[in-house]
Amino acid sequence: MELTISEAPTAPRLLKGDFMILIAYASKTGNAQQAAQKLAELLPGASLCDLTKMTPQLENYDSVIIGAGVRMNSIHKDAKEFLEKNQATLGTKKLAIFISNCFADTTDQVLQTAVSDELRGAAVWMGSVGGRLDMAKLKGLDKIVAMAASKAVKDDQRVNVELDEVALDKLAACFYQ
Ligand SMILES: Cc1cc2nc3c(=O)[nH]c(=O)nc-3n(C[C@H](O)[C@H](O)[C@H](O)COP(=O)(O)O)c2cc1C
Repeated sequence: MELTISEAPTAPRLLKGDFMILIAYASKTGNAQQAAQKLAELLPGASLCDLTKMTPQLENYDSVIIGAGVRMNSIHKDAKEFLEKNQATLGTKKLAIFISNCFADTTDQVLQTAVSDELRGAAVWMGSVGGRLDMAKLKGLDKIVAMAASKAVKDDQRVNVELDEVALDKLAACFYQ
């Protein structure tokens, strides 16, 4: 269920046992968004929220999954701000945090920089769900950076070139009842 700006984010669908899940994401080229949508398929009844367009009402949810694309070793600024502003509330939820990135080796470092010690300690799952470099969606400097990066890392096993279905399954399984 994708929340849109015209919809009040105050009425998520009830799951069995009133266990409500929010999947909030911030994405530049659609990869974190696609991962969030895949999670929503694995967790029927969960609400999807695009953090670049709206702010969800956290009090409506028991469980929160936050996802973000990565650029220059930083998570999307809207996800970063959301994590910072809502740290106290998020610490009371069942929480998972995923990133969509290409350089698998840097995942821990990116999460350590972006997420407070408190939330890293509280999260039931944190990690990368893979990523892609979509040249067709990139322009200007972004495209130049991405082309240089993709040449440099061609055939490197440590580089994510697709979304990681296994990681998505593992993340979703943390929220099965
Ligand atoms: C300009 C640019 C910079 C990037 N910087 C990084 C980076 O520092 N580390 C990394 O792992 N991936 C980096 N990536 C790859 C993205 O994280 C990857 O494409 C991801 O799937 C994007 O998710 P999104 O489409 O949800 O924004 C970069 C991609 C671009 C286009």
